[in-house]
Amino acid sequence: MRPSAPHPVPAAFAASAHLDEAGYHALYRRSVADPDGFWGEAARALAWTRPFTRVREGDFSGDAQVRWFADGTLNASVNCLDRHLASHGDRPAILWEGDEPEDRRTLTYRDLHDQVSRLANALTTLGVGPGDFVGIYLPVIPEAIVAALATARIGAVHALVFSGFSAESLAQRLNDCGAKALITADESRRGGRLVPLKRNADQALAESPSVRSVVVVTRTGAEVPFSPGRDHRYENLVAAADPMAPPVAVGAEDPLFILYTSGSTGQPKGVIHTTGGYLVHTALSYKYVFDHHDGDIHWCTADIAWVTAHSYVLYGPLANAATIVLFEGVPGYPTPARFWEIVDRYHVTSFYTAPTAVRSLMREGDAPVLATSRHSLRLLGSVGEPINPEAWHWYHRVVGGGRCPIVDTYWQTETGAILIAPIPGATPLKPGSATRPFFGVQPALVDGEGNEIAGPGEGHLVIDAPWPGQARTIHRDHARYVDTYFRRFPGRYFTGDGARRDADGYYWLTGRVDDVINVSGHRLGTVELETAIASHPKVAEAAVVGFPHAIKGQGIYAYVTLKAEFPETDGLRRELIDWVRTRIGPIASPDVIHWASDLPKNRSGKILRRILARIARGETDDLGDRTTVANPDVIPEIIGRRAA
Ligand code: WT7
Repeated sequence: MRPSAPHPVPAAFAASAHLDEAGYHALYRRSVADPDGFWGEAARALAWTRPFTRVREGDFSGDAQVRWFADGTLNASVNCLDRHLASHGDRPAILWEGDEPEDRRTLTYRDLHDQVSRLANALTTLGVGPGDFVGIYLPVIPEAIVAALATARIGAVHALVFSGFSAESLAQRLNDCGAKALITADESRRGGRLVPLKRNADQALAESPSVRSVVVVTRTGAEVPFSPGRDHRYENLVAAADPMAPPVAVGAEDPLFILYTSGSTGQPKGVIHTTGGYLVHTALSYKYVFDHHDGDIHWCTADIAWVTAHSYVLYGPLANAATIVLFEGVPGYPTPARFWEIVDRYHVTSFYTAPTAVRSLMREGDAPVLATSRHSLRLLGSVGEPINPEAWHWYHRVVGGGRCPIVDTYWQTETGAILIAPIPGATPLKPGSATRPFFGVQPALVDGEGNEIAGPGEGHLVIDAPWPGQARTIHRDHARYVDTYFRRFPGRYFTGDGARRDADGYYWLTGRVDDVINVSGHRLGTVELETAIASHPKVAEAAVVGFPHAIKGQGIYAYVTLKAEFPETDGLRRELIDWVRTRIGPIASPDVIHWASDLPKNRSGKILRRILARIARGETDDLGDRTTVANPDVIPEIIGRRAA
């Protein structure tokens, strides 16, 4: 590592920040010395129906049963809406901008409360009750937030599925959770392109017998098939529904939502987040990491179906009565200035995006950014993968005009909220480092044998003690939960990431150490991709690895062996890419299909992805240990056929 002087907190920012450096250290020390006192106090800032008397129970030993605030009851929609109405009813909750710049809507806290209450009643009428799962397959429109909060209001559990996922991926998720209802739209629009959501949903529903009711939001007004008795127009339901919906108080440990994420096996994991601890952690981390002040306008660009948006579009900001910007489109449409025009239009104060978006906009040059003012911005954020210093400096200098701290936030779907990030008024920044742990989070580094590394060093990143936002289980598979996160290093939560800690105690994430690749900030399991490719009738075998990609961070590199009778053609290459797109979704499109007559394996037939990964990265001079390769002759052939 090349040491560079940390960026001090800008004086203008420090003047109004919640915490300074000494404040961070004092609060962090308290949070780990007295977690019950620290988190109990944070939790009492929320509205409880029945106050909790116990804070933290359980640990990471045995089957890792962790509970927070377990005897308290509350409702998430009340915490995000009702309790703000008296003082902030007329404040905009959502400033929505559609794919086309002229398409705009504002919903105040009162409007949002009204819509949520009505939809909550409509869902009850459709037979959805506490503990039932509700699938949500929507574009980034206000109704996606209405749907999530209405589900929470009646004590049901939401399952958002990315609208870019295929019918097959949707069906798999609806079936895994046994969803009783699905909320979708006629079509979605992104970057000027239409996606037939209702058609995809119908295809999925043919395979998802648990879904008895479908609510269809009119987004584009396209003519779509309607199945009488099963399908209902959102607009009609909401217009006819009673606007008074008494919230259902749920236990703090009752599930709020399920979210699917890729792991190291083919089947996505249904990560379960509970209500009390998740809300406390998202609300507190939003307040401190984004240094929230009354009147702030927060824009997180993540699609609503990813955890980033669950925590920092929806629950964290709304629990703090923030105004959020919600954007349906994509960064470069219709022009590369779109993001910055939105910042100016709505006077955005904190802007949170992924390094891949920063890199793609950086490629367009400074002019589109400099054509806008961005004077409202106080803070920039980054999430999803390590941000490379070149992108960091451009983001800082050009987008932030050199005056905005950048919070590089490290966390995961399973962690629910931020684990490692700067506190912007307190933490001197080092480009590329997520810096120091958030309150109550106790990271550690261990070597391959589980020995803890003290001081500066590099190893596997683990977390030593429970935190309130963490996932409690994997739906219907607690054994997989224990196995994935707590088996390798007993008594500790294993993140699956490698990290380095420098002499100042700053953490530098170095990437996944498991069979997971990170494409544009989205997690994809290599096994899931291989399974999809190998299900093509002409494919004998496939191995997928990540490789460095200038915009996406990592790209998808697939080695494919065809069944002997089929020739390796460019047509088949395109067909395979399309095959994966329809089976998983466009985000899973392989960047490279590399034909191979055979793949390097060990004596027991296991594919040696480690060697294939080095070849994909172009490191053909140093393939590492080859002593276990049972068929070494295939290696020169594979190297010879690598595209330049
Ligand atoms: C994985 C989690 C929760 C955010 C969205 C992605 C990587 C995430 C950072 C960061 C370095 C990061 C890790 C992590 N990651 N943020 N700031 N610096 N790496 O959620 O799909 O659950 O992926 O994203 O590898 O394990 P996810």
